[in-house]
Amino acid sequence: MAEWHKSDWRAKPRVQMPEYTDAEALKAVEAQLASYPPLVFAGEARSLKAKLGAASRGEAFLLQGGDCAESFEQFSADAIRDTFKVMLQMAMVLTYGAKVPVVKVGRMAGQFAKPRSAPTEVVDGVELPSYRGDIINELAFSPEARIPDPRKMLQAYTQAAATLNLLRAFSTGGYADVHQVHAWTLGFTESEKAARYRDLANRISDTLDFMQAAGVGSDTAEALRTVSFYTSHESLLLEYEEALTRLDSTSGKWLAGSGHMIWIGDRTRQPDGAHVEFARGVLNPIGLKCGPTTTADDLKVLMAKLNPENEAGRLTLIARFGAGSVGEHLPRLIKVVQEEGANVLWTCDPMHGNTIKSASGYKTRPFDSVLREVREFFAIHKAEGTIPGGVHFEMTGQDVTECIGGVRAVTDENLSDRYHTACDPRLNASQSLELAFLVAEELSALRETRAAQAV
Ligand code: PEP
Ligand code: CO
Repeated sequence: MAEWHKSDWRAKPRVQMPEYTDAEALKAVEAQLASYPPLVFAGEARSLKAKLGAASRGEAFLLQGGDCAESFEQFSADAIRDTFKVMLQMAMVLTYGAKVPVVKVGRMAGQFAKPRSAPTEVVDGVELPSYRGDIINELAFSPEARIPDPRKMLQAYTQAAATLNLLRAFSTGGYADVHQVHAWTLGFTESEKAARYRDLANRISDTLDFMQAAGVGSDTAEALRTVSFYTSHESLLLEYEEALTRLDSTSGKWLAGSGHMIWIGDRTRQPDGAHVEFARGVLNPIGLKCGPTTTADDLKVLMAKLNPENEAGRLTLIARFGAGSVGEHLPRLIKVVQEEGANVLWTCDPMHGNTIKSASGYKTRPFDSVLREVREFFAIHKAEGTIPGGVHFEMTGQDVTECIGGVRAVTDENLSDRYHTACDPRLNASQSLELAFLVAEELSALRETRAAQAV
C-alpha cells in the first residue's frame, strides 16, 4: 500500500463535514480523544473480517442493523437491550432458515454523524444549518443548537463506550444464551409473526433438550451460551475517527478504534475525497454504499483503493438502489466486480432508496418497498449466480410508528403516534421480525435451488 498516515485525509476535498469555528476547542477535544483508550481491539476487527469473508463465499450471512442516528437524549439501557434483543431474534430466524452462521453487526456505539441532502433547513421562512447528528450539533431548531460543537465528540465517545460495554455484557453474560430463546419473546404483543417466532423458539428448545439428553459435548453447549456481536457506523466525522485511530503493534497496521466496521456513505464516496482516503488506510472491514449514481469507473477505482490486496471480508458493497431500480443497477455493478475479479461481500440496504414524504408530511418508508427491494436483490443474485451475503437496515427494538405498513399496519395517520427517530424512519420490532422471516425464506429457497443445481 502507498504510504499512509491517519491525518492524510486533511489534504483531500471533504464534503458533509462541519466547519468548526472554535479551532482551539477542536484541538483540545482531538488531543483528549487521542489520549483515551480505543473502543475496539484489532484482533476483533480481524475476526469480523474473517467472518465477512465467509459471508462473501455464502458460508455465513451478515445481519447489520440499528438506528439511523443514535441520540444522546434517547440513550438508555432499555433501548440498547431492546435493539440487541430484536437483532438476536432476527438472527435466530435467519440461522434457522439459512442454515449458516449469522454475523451480527449493530449500527451502534458510534452511529452519531449524519450526511444531509441539504446544508440548510427552512422552517416557516427561517433558514438554519441542517442538523448533522448529535456528535456535531442539535436537532432543536434554533441558531445556537445548530452550531457545530467539537465537545460533543467527547459525549459521543462516552456514550459509545457505555453502549459497547453493555453489548459485551449481554453477549457473553448470559442474556444471549440460546436457551433464553423464549425469554426474548417477552414484550411481544400478539401478531402472526410473534406466533411464528414462538413456534420456531419451541423447535429450537426441543432441539436443545434433545442435544442435552444425547450428551452433546460441553464445548458445543458453551458456544450456544454466548454470541459475537460487533459494532459499526458511518465513518463521516473524520476528526473523531482520526483521533481514535491507533497503530496495532501485532501487525504494524492502523486500526480505526471507533468501532469494528466502518462504512463510507453514498454522499461521501468520491474516489479522491477525504473519506475514501481515511478508510483505505485502516485495517478494519470497510463498507461502501452503492447507489443509482455509482458508476462502473468509480467502483473500479474504489475497489482498487479500498482493497488493494483483494482480501476476502475487507470490502462489503452495500446496495441501496430503491425498489424497482435494483434490476437497472445491480447487474451492471456485479459485472464490474466480476471483470475485476474482486472479492466483495454483497449486502442489501433496502432503506435508503425508499424514503418518501408521506401525505401527512412525515419522512417515511413504505414497508412494502423495503420488502420488494430485498426480493429484487435476491432475484438478481440468483439470476447472476452470485452471492447475496447480507442485509443492512435501520431498526429499533422500540414500538415506533415510522415506516408505513407491516402486519400490524402502521398507516399515514398513525405516523405521528410514536415517531421518535432523530433522522431516518426505522423499522419497529414487529416489522424487523417480519423482514427476517422474508429473508429466511429467500435464503432457504436459494439454498434449495443451488443444491438441486449441484446434483
Ligand atoms: C445511512 O446509512 O444512514 C445513510 C445515510 O445511507 P446512505 O449513505 O446510503 O444514504
Ligand atoms: Co439513515
